[in-house]
Formats: sequence, structure tokens, C-alpha cells
Amino acid sequence: MKVSIIGATGYTGAELIRLLTQHPQVEVEIITSNSFVGKKISDIYPNLTGIIDMKCKELNVEEIAEKTEVAFTALPHGVSMDIVPQLVERGLKVIDLSGDYRYQDLDTYQAWYKEHSSPELLAKGTYGLAEYNSLKIKDSSLVANPGCYPTASLLALMPLVENSLVEKEGIIVDAKSGTTGAGRKLSRGTHFSETEGNFKAYKVANHRHRSEIEEKLSLAQTDDVQLTFTPHLLPAKRGILATIYADLACDKSTEELIHYYHEFYDGANFVRILDNKLPQLKYVVGSNYCDIGVKVDQERNQVIIISAIDNLIKGSAGQAIQNLNLMAGWDETPGLKQIGMYL
Ligand SMILES: NC(=O)c1ccc[n+]([C@@H]2O[C@H](COP(=O)([O-])OP(=O)(O)OC[C@H]3O[C@@H](n4cnc5c(N)ncnc54)[C@H](OP(=O)(O)O)[C@@H]3O)[C@@H](O)[C@H]2O)c1
Repeated sequence: MKVSIIGATGYTGAELIRLLTQHPQVEVEIITSNSFVGKKISDIYPNLTGIIDMKCKELNVEEIAEKTEVAFTALPHGVSMDIVPQLVERGLKVIDLSGDYRYQDLDTYQAWYKEHSSPELLAKGTYGLAEYNSLKIKDSSLVANPGCYPTASLLALMPLVENSLVEKEGIIVDAKSGTTGAGRKLSRGTHFSETEGNFKAYKVANHRHRSEIEEKLSLAQTDDVQLTFTPHLLPAKRGILATIYADLACDKSTEELIHYYHEFYDGANFVRILDNKLPQLKYVVGSNYCDIGVKVDQERNQVIIISAIDNLIKGSAGQAIQNLNLMAGWDETPGLKQIGMYL
């Protein structure tokens, strides 16, 4: 299958290229850029030298529609919504990595992002959390790949929230991300001398991913779920680790909840429930896995869930390929069999 990557020069675009070159059924046919048109992708990312030396093109939707079946849009939010409708209109299947098509509720999107230029498509997009929506994803022509923090948070919380095992108020998501989560563009807050040896909270009570997590949990529980979400910036390049606190609405031990998570994710290719250890970034970085650990504090009747992913793989490019595999009717795993790097 021939695919295009629009926004190939960004971190998630480059990660899509790296992973797709190892996908047996996929050929990357067109890559586009905004600032590096005519430049070889292997001159921008020399790790690709001799493997994929193709040049970045200017965006040309006619050519993309003529030569490829699926387009990944790895663009900033607000830019995606101007390009995705043109691709869908021409019959392409689209996997959008931005926030532009993730919301079911237009007002929520507009409150946290900006005015939407194609709200009719917003309603048609399928939220691409593969472990929950696989049947809808298979039949969808527009998949909205989830945000990185929402992926780690929702995979950890959905089993409990969907079955009302935790109280719907008072959930706390305390999450930490590596600096690649902010993309390739330069900013003072993410450059080496500001982040190395440092650790800080940011966008406290004001990060848009809270609204995405709340919307999806509320839809799963068919009631309003409210949470506190505090992101932190790690002095590391990759990875998200979320520590999540929720009050139990049932009387369950750690062992019972771990057993429950195992049953819930039975057959899931990329979710690992850890029995005797807690997730760490080095178990997952470099892989498409989400590792989940669960502990009950029986004195407080509280559950603490730890969830870890690689933001550039399970949190974006890897999950996008998982969605492509589902949309194409293939097994879920081609292109995604890498093991975490550990060191
Ligand atoms: N980074 C993550 O961990 C992560 C995780 C989940 C989701 N996401 C989402 O995925 C999307 C891409 O993220 P990223 O981290 O890859 O961002 P990035 O590194 O900043 O890359 C953005 C890409 O979009 C292109 N671009 C920027 N402005 C454009 C415009 N006006 N017209 C056309 N192309 C334009 C850039 O092209 P040039 O390089 O040529 O300028 C670049 O290829 C974002 O919506 C982000 O929120 C990111």
C-alpha cells in the first residue's frame, strides 16, 4: 500500500518514516514539508541515510490522491483542519495526528483550541484509540489519532471508568513527558540548558489534554467525569509516565484489580499489565507498548495506576500505524514489533 506523510519533517512525521520503512505491506510514496521542500529527508534526519533518501515535496493534494491510498497528517492543530477535508474529499483515507478531529463536541474543541473550519468532518472522525474503537476504526476514512497524554491516561483509566469501579469525581492524573512531546520547533522552555537537570510542572489547570481525556471518559461512563490533570516536563527526550489516583467505588484488592485488567486487555497486542513491578519509561521507550501497573491503597480505598508509553510511538506514530493496520484489514502488529530499548 502506498502512503503519504504530510508534515514528514516533524518529530512524529520522521518517526512514521522510520517505523514504516520496516512495515512489510507499506511503501512511503510522498513526503511533504513546509520549510524543507526539495531537501532529502536523510539530510534532515541522517539516521535515514541510504534507507530512505527521498526528497520532501510541497503539498499537492491532487498528486497525493492520485498516487497514494492513505495520508498521515502529522501537522500542528489548526493546520490539519485546512488540509484534511481536501484529502477526504478526494477519497483518501486519512490518519490525523493533530487534535483537530479528536473531539465529538465542537464547543469543547473550540473552547480549548480555536474555531473549527470543518466541523462537519469533526463529527465523522473516529477517535483512534485502537484498544477501544477497533471496529469503528476498521470502517473509518478519517481517524483522529489520540493525544499522547490522553493515550497513557485513557488506557489506564478506561477499564475502571467504563465499569464504574471508581468515583467519577476527584480523579488525578499526574503525568510527565519527555521534551519531544513539544515537537521539533524551538522554544526556550524545551531547549537543553533549560531542561537538563530540571523537572517542572507546566500548564497547570490549563492543559487542553484534560478536556480530551474527560470527553472520552464521560462518553464511556455516559456521565460527566471530571479530573485534575497536571503535566510535567522531564529532562529526557522520549516517554510519558502517568501516575493516576482515583477513589474506588467498590471493594477490591490489588490482586483482584490486576486480574480484572488482565481480563479487560486479554488479546490486546500493545497493552501489558505488569503483575509484580511498576512501569518505567525504559521498559517502553522505543516500542509501541503501554505498560500499566495497579496498586490499591486499602486504608484510603484508593487505586493508584501507573501507565508508561513512548510519546512518539504509542503516543503518536506507532498508534497511527496500528490504526492504519486496522483500516487496511491487516493484523494489528506489522511495523510495530520493536522491543523497548531499555538502555
Ligand atoms: N510530538 C509528540 O509527541 C506528539 C504526540 C501526539 C500527537 N502529536 C501531534 O502531532 C502533530 C505533529 O507533532 P510533531 O511533534 O511532529 O510537530 P513538529 O515536530 O513541530 O512538526 C510539525 C510538522 O508540520 C509541518 N508544518 C508546520 N506548519 C505548517 C504549515 N503551516 N503548513 C504545512 N506544514 C506545516 C512542519 O513542516 P516543516 O518542518 O517543513 O516546517 C513539520 O513537518 C501535532 O499536532 C502534535 O500535537 C505530537
